[in-house]
Amino acid sequence: MAVERTLVFLKPDAVMRGLVGPILNRLEARGFTFVAMKLLHVSKELAEKHYAIHKGKPFYDGLVRYVQSGPVVACVLEGEDAIAGCRRLMGATDPRKGAPGEIRFDYAQEIGRNLVHGSDGPQTAATEIALWFKPDELVTYRRAGHEWVHEKA
Ligand SMILES: Nc1ncnc2c1ncn2[C@@H]1O[C@H](COP(=O)(O)OP(=O)(O)O)[C@@H](O)[C@H]1O
Ligand SMILES: [Mg+2]
Repeated sequence: MAVERTLVFLKPDAVMRGLVGPILNRLEARGFTFVAMKLLHVSKELAEKHYAIHKGKPFYDGLVRYVQSGPVVACVLEGEDAIAGCRRLMGATDPRKGAPGEIRFDYAQEIGRNLVHGSDGPQTAATEIALWFKPDELVTYRRAGHEWVHEKA
């Protein structure tokens, strides 16, 4: 397993519903490290670039509107297997198909209002981090208690 960085953002429904704390807590409590974090309104340009892979799909226009419909909290998280690990914490894309314990199942009900985004692979993570953050917005440090999460610290 490798130390990875992943781009996570809390979509406007998470911010508007006051779920920023509970959702970030799930990621933080597992032991992942915040390397970057900011609150922003997503521009049309950023929304279209981020979701370019979905262009042409029936939900694309709604998705691009959804991410621009309120503030989002964007983060870079770091840790062993952080890309898949964060996505497992988030759960199924469609909250209805998930299971209790998953962020999307526990706090959401619909695929079009599923609260959170996580990069889906190393290449996507690198591209998305570069799209959302400038290099000097990434802060490198070791969390206190690292050796209590990792046996071979
Ligand atoms: N059928 C759909 N209807 C509405 N929104 C959708 C649908 N499929 C995907 N989406 C939205 O597009 C986002 C990106 O889709 P996808 O990359 O497949 O999922 P994930 O976010 O789990 O990686 C989803 O998180 C969701 O917000
Ligand atoms: Mg995806």
